[in-house]
Amino acid sequence: MDPRRILLAISGGIAAYKAPELLRALRKAGHDVRCALTPEAERFVSPLVLQSLSGRSVRRNLFDAGEEGEIDHIGLADWAELVLVAPATANLLAKMAHGLADDLVSTVLLATRAPVLVAPAMNVNMWSHPATATNAAILRSRGVSFVGPDAGELACGWEGLGRMSEPARIAEAVAACLTSKSLAGERVLVTAGGTAEAIDSVRTITNRSSGKMGFAIAAEAARRGAEVVLVAGISTQPTPFGVRRIDVGSALAMREAVLAEFEAAGIVIKAAAVADFRPAAPADRKLKKEDLPESGRLTLELVQNPDILAEICLRKGDRIVVGFAAESHDVVGAAQRKLARKGCDLIVANDISRRDAGFEVDQNAVVFVWPDQQVEELPLLDKSGVAAQLLDRVEKLRTRR
Ligand code: CTP
Repeated sequence: MDPRRILLAISGGIAAYKAPELLRALRKAGHDVRCALTPEAERFVSPLVLQSLSGRSVRRNLFDAGEEGEIDHIGLADWAELVLVAPATANLLAKMAHGLADDLVSTVLLATRAPVLVAPAMNVNMWSHPATATNAAILRSRGVSFVGPDAGELACGWEGLGRMSEPARIAEAVAACLTSKSLAGERVLVTAGGTAEAIDSVRTITNRSSGKMGFAIAAEAARRGAEVVLVAGISTQPTPFGVRRIDVGSALAMREAVLAEFEAAGIVIKAAAVADFRPAAPADRKLKKEDLPESGRLTLELVQNPDILAEICLRKGDRIVVGFAAESHDVVGAAQRKLARKGCDLIVANDISRRDAGFEVDQNAVVFVWPDQQVEELPLLDKSGVAAQLLDRVEKLRTRR
């Protein structure tokens, strides 16, 4: 993502202690960040820490001659390409909803034309109070975006909705706000991760797929404004911001979920590593060693799983369907044959023999293989970079559709 100018506005809640971590995440993503604090925020977070991490002076006061000489409050409001309020207290949300401007942060929020993202943090009863709910609804209706609050243990001792989202989550929401909504109105179905095929009630056959590639695609599609459904096999990855996730275990369960979601989807991207075979007769309880034949060998009979990608390609209509190919040799040739056999619009081929790309790692080196035999080889990229390149291609197909 291109570096952007972000104003991080911090109001006075205990969650303000996470602001430095959030600031670091935004700086790591390459953004230029300035901080503005309410007077109460200073009690929870040191301006000196924020100044050191942002490399920018921190604004605290309205009409302070020294601070205004640096950049005046209207200049600050105009400078920002995004204003992120984290944490946003109930008081600040109320001021924003009603147009109050009695300190630097609320004044900048009234003056800015930039998109605004808020990460509320407060006691559960304050969040659920009709006054706060109405204020949040007013802000949403004006286009203010929200991330959180999340449920959990609150600093005040209560449990429930009110925790500020984790900094990594807020950084994801920032990326979503800053990405152009080129897939708005589109429904994207993504599959990711490996499947697990039951041998008995506790054991499975699975593979080394981490799901990272498919999750990165789902995250990027959501950033671009699509409604995203992620059918996830075995994966420990966190659900990307704004994505609806359906967890499945086996290939058969994945097929069922994909077929249920397929009708409503305009774009289908099948990054999952689906097991090709499953045990023919999984035991419904744990197999015991004493049940084994005397030879000490256990023979499992495997039957073939349905090919979900091939099946949906048969009834794809004008949907765009992208398949993946995991190959250890003759990568392009094998992917071309796979594309012809399954009938998808594009195959993303991975060389799984490489150690620096593919399974488990954060980077991938892929080749796009097209039906007209064209081949595009991409350099080694972060999986989010591969996802962006892939969705750029899908968007081109979409305009031709
Ligand atoms: N796929 C699928 N259902 C299966 C097997 C694979 O939908 N039962 C999909 C994968 O999600 C991927 C593509 O087909 O998009 C290719 O998967 P891959 O494992 O590379 O190929 P296979 O079709 O399984 O063929 P082979 O194992 O012989 O390489």
